[in-house]
Amino acid sequence: MTGDGPSLRLDVSREEALRHAARIIVQAWRSFDRFRPEEPPLDERVLALLRSGLPEEGVPTHEALEDAGRVLDESIAQPRPRYFAFIGSSGLEIGAIADALAATYDINLAVDARAATVIEQQAVRWVAGFVGYPAGGGAFTSGGTISNMTALSAARERAMPGSRHGGMAERRAAVYCSREVHYSITRAVELLGIGSANLRALPIDERRRLRPDALAEAIDRDLADGVTPVAVVASAGTTLTGAIDPIGEIAEVCEARGVWLHVDGAYGLPAAAVPSMRPAFAGLERADSVSVDAHKWLYLPKACGVVLVKRQEDLVAAFAHREGYLPHQQHELHAVDITLEYSRPFRALKAWLAFRVHGAPAFRAAIERNLAEARLLYEEIGRYEDLEALAPPQLSIVPFRHVPPGVRDVDAHNAALAEALQADGRVYLASALIDGQVYLRPCFVNFRTTEEDVLALIGIVRELGARLAARA
Ligand SMILES: Cc1ncc(COP(=O)(O)O)c(C=O)c1O
Repeated sequence: MTGDGPSLRLDVSREEALRHAARIIVQAWRSFDRFRPEEPPLDERVLALLRSGLPEEGVPTHEALEDAGRVLDESIAQPRPRYFAFIGSSGLEIGAIADALAATYDINLAVDARAATVIEQQAVRWVAGFVGYPAGGGAFTSGGTISNMTALSAARERAMPGSRHGGMAERRAAVYCSREVHYSITRAVELLGIGSANLRALPIDERRRLRPDALAEAIDRDLADGVTPVAVVASAGTTLTGAIDPIGEIAEVCEARGVWLHVDGAYGLPAAAVPSMRPAFAGLERADSVSVDAHKWLYLPKACGVVLVKRQEDLVAAFAHREGYLPHQQHELHAVDITLEYSRPFRALKAWLAFRVHGAPAFRAAIERNLAEARLLYEEIGRYEDLEALAPPQLSIVPFRHVPPGVRDVDAHNAALAEALQADGRVYLASALIDGQVYLRPCFVNFRTTEEDVLALIGIVRELGARLAARA
């Protein structure tokens, strides 16, 4: 001990602090088991905490933990079974435990970390095996955005060898995708110097899937104009509606022209593990790279994405480097030689532990239940005259609208309804703009959601919708 000054030691025993935290966690897990009837507003205590400045003095650990529990409980938590907005995650319990273990050891997966490095590579193979992609390499990332960026970096270096050193200079390049690709692809082409003006956002078919004929035409036009095609991005579930681009036909176009094929399966790819869904992903094995997020439809807590590549050398060519502070004594492969990040937490542990504890069939079954929930919602919508679905779900997103008789501005009505639903708090739902029209857009990716929750969603939408329509 050095003096009586402030220290970073806890004021209670570590066991006691841990027991307190465990109590809060177990309480949360219990509260996630079923829906809660409303979302509580911020209470006085939390509002007062929000006004406080940087603490110059510590408070007792128990008090601070209670406050943290309160803040968490008054926040919008995606693990709740009636959280249907965006593409959520469900904070799988073994994943939360894995995060605590990983944070405790605080291993840095930037450089070779012995067992943890080997486990990351094994977990990469497990995820690849689960979705049925013959990966030659890959890494855990913080999510789809970084996975997509990583894959497109490798694609750029393959299409334009040396561009990582020489930059893009005067060279013109393009990336191809459907107009409903996720914004992370736009980000990636901007950051890679390709430019979002050179992102060819192509037409979609009646099922909102990239049209291979439009793709072939766009690439051929660019080739004739001296523009280098860097990559084609196929979405294997779009964020807006869950449309799955025809991967096999797109692979055909890419292979004939020697263009890199990336499949953004950040949301939808886990469904490829379900035998009845496999045909929808036909051709996946032909992709050069793939993104899949374990923090979406593999139920794990954020942040946990995976980028997979057919050939590890492609990542090495884009990312490997030598610096004085990064010794390469032998032939070890440091993760920084294949990824974007330096300091890297042991994200792989949660995927590895989750597969070990539950086994792959439990994940397949949970995904099948979510798919069935989406189908149930679609069928239920068909039973009511005042509801209208966009289309049968391809995955687990079911955009629909409330269309009560007498309401003239259906878009304004549904926008107001989305707000009313969030204020009401019994379900959490967001709206989305599809072809300029406002839809409610529930997405089912939570293993805690039940059929009862799906039916409740319909009931609450119709109840609040009717109330709004009566006021109009
Ligand atoms: C298809 C798709 N790609 C990429 C992303 C971005 O993933 P993240 O938020 O993990 O960066 C998302 C997010 O919803 C997505 O749906």
